[in-house]
Amino acid sequence: MWRRVVSWVDERLNIMPLWHGFLDRKVPKGIGWFHVFGSATLFLLVLQFVTGIFLTVYYAPSTEHAYRSIEFITGQVPFGRFVAGVHLWSASILVVVIGVHMLRTFVYGAYKYPREATWITGAVLLLLVLAFAFTGYLLPYDQKAYWATVVGTNIAGAAPLVGDWALRILRGGTAVGALTLQRFYAFHIWVLPAALVLFVAAHLFMVIRQGIAAPPRRWPLDLGSAAARLPRRERYERQYAMEKQVGHPFYVSILKDAVFALLLFLAIAVLAVTIGTPLEPPADPNATSYVPRPEWYFLDFFQLLWYLQGQWEPLWIFLIVLGVVLMLLLLPFYDRGPERHPGRRPVAMVCAAVGVVAVMGLTYLGGRKPAATQAPPASGAATAPGAREFQAQACAGCHTIAGVGGTAGPNLSHIGAAMTRDQLRTFIVQGRGRMPAFPHISPDALSALLDYLESLK
Ligand code: HEC
Repeated sequence: MWRRVVSWVDERLNIMPLWHGFLDRKVPKGIGWFHVFGSATLFLLVLQFVTGIFLTVYYAPSTEHAYRSIEFITGQVPFGRFVAGVHLWSASILVVVIGVHMLRTFVYGAYKYPREATWITGAVLLLLVLAFAFTGYLLPYDQKAYWATVVGTNIAGAAPLVGDWALRILRGGTAVGALTLQRFYAFHIWVLPAALVLFVAAHLFMVIRQGIAAPPRRWPLDLGSAAARLPRRERYERQYAMEKQVGHPFYVSILKDAVFALLLFLAIAVLAVTIGTPLEPPADPNATSYVPRPEWYFLDFFQLLWYLQGQWEPLWIFLIVLGVVLMLLLLPFYDRGPERHPGRRPVAMVCAAVGVVAVMGLTYLGGRKPAATQAPPASGAATAPGAREFQAQACAGCHTIAGVGGTAGPNLSHIGAAMTRDQLRTFIVQGRGRMPAFPHISPDALSALLDYLESLK
C-alpha cells in the first residue's frame, strides 16, 4: 500500500532521483554527533517561526493590551500556555545551540578557505538572533520587560556620537512606551524575520554548495607529489573529493540530526509544561526602584557593565561591543593560516578557551547578583529632608549609603567628595547607563536631595 502511494506520487513529481542524490551522496569521514548543532539551529528557528505565528493570532501590541493578551494566551487559549512556553524556551536553547555550533566550527577550523563567507553569514545570524531576543523581551510588557528595555536602550543611548540618534530610533521617542512597543513588535515579527530568512538562505546555500567541511586531520591525505604545484582551489577540491570517498552517506548524518532535534524538542516541551512563561506584574513606568534583570544570555554583558561603572562606562561599552562584533565577523580575514587541526593552532585554542570561560564566568557572576532590593526603612539618623527624599525616590533600592541599601548602583557613601552639585543634578534628572532618569522630581525635593548627597564626604 505504502509503496503504491509513493510510486503514485513519484510518477507525478519524478522526485526520487533528486531525493536519492540528496540522501545517498557521501559526506566526509568523521562527520558525527558534533555536527548536529547546525541543523538543530535551523530546527529551533523553524520552531520559533511556527510558535511565533500562533502567538500573533492573540497577541495585541499595545501598552494597554499587551500584558492582558499574554495572560489570555497562557490562561485561556487551548494549548496557549504550551505554545508560548515553547516559544520562550526554545529561544533560550537556541542561543546555547548556536554558541556550540560556532564553537565547533571554530575548533574544527571550518571557517577557513573556502568557507569564509559561510562564517560571516553565520555571525550575522547570531547577531540577528540576539536582536530577536532583545526585541521579544519587551513584548509581554511586564515589569521585567519594561525595565530591561529602559536599561538596554539607555546603554545604546550612551554611546558616543550616535547615542542620541540610536536612542530615538529604538524608543520612537524619549521614553520607553507605546511607540517603543510598536517598533519592537514590527522589528520582531517583520524586519528581523525577513533578514533572518535571507541570511539563513545564504548560509544554507553555501553549506550545500561547499559541502560539510571535512574534520581536520593532523596528517592531511596524501595527494601525491604533483599536487603541491596545483592552484589552491584544485588542490582543495581533490582533497575534498578524497575525503568524501572514505566518508558515509548523508542520511546517516540526517538521522543523527533528527534524533538530536527530537531530544531538544522533548527538553523544551518539559520546560514549557513545568515552568511555562513566568510573568511579572504589568509594566509600571513610575516604579523607578525596580532593579531590572536581563535574560540570562545577556547576564555576562550585564556583569561586565558592573565592572566598568564610572565616567567612561559608555565609551567602554561602545568599544567592547564594536570590538566583539568585528572580531566575530572578520575572523576568517585575520586568522588566515591554512592549518585547521586544533592541535596545531594553540593560540586559537587558548583564545577560544579564554572566551568560553569568560562568558560562562561572567554569566555565573551576573546570575548570582541579588535581584531587586527593597529600599530599607529610614533609620533614626536619616531624618534630614534629603535623606527622606532618598528613601522616597527609592534611590536606596539601588544605592548603598553608610552600609544600608541596594547594590545595583555604585555606593554613594562618599559621593559628595566625588561629584559637584551640578554633576549630581544632571545625573539624577537625566540618568545614565543603567541608572534611570528622574525628570519629574519636584524642585524642592531635588534641592533637598542634592544638599544631602553633597554632605556625604
Ligand atoms: C534602578 C537602580 C537605580 C536607582 C533607583 C537609582 N540609581 Fe543611581 N545609579 C544606578 C546605576 C546602575 C548607576 C551607575 C551608572 C553609570 O555609571 O553609568 C548609578 C549612578 C548614580 C550616581 C553616580 C555615581 C558614581 O559614582 O558615578 C549618582 C550620584 C546616583 N546614581 C544617584 C541616584 C539618586 C539620587 C537616586 C534616586 C533619585 C538614584 N541614583 C536611583 C542605579 C540606580
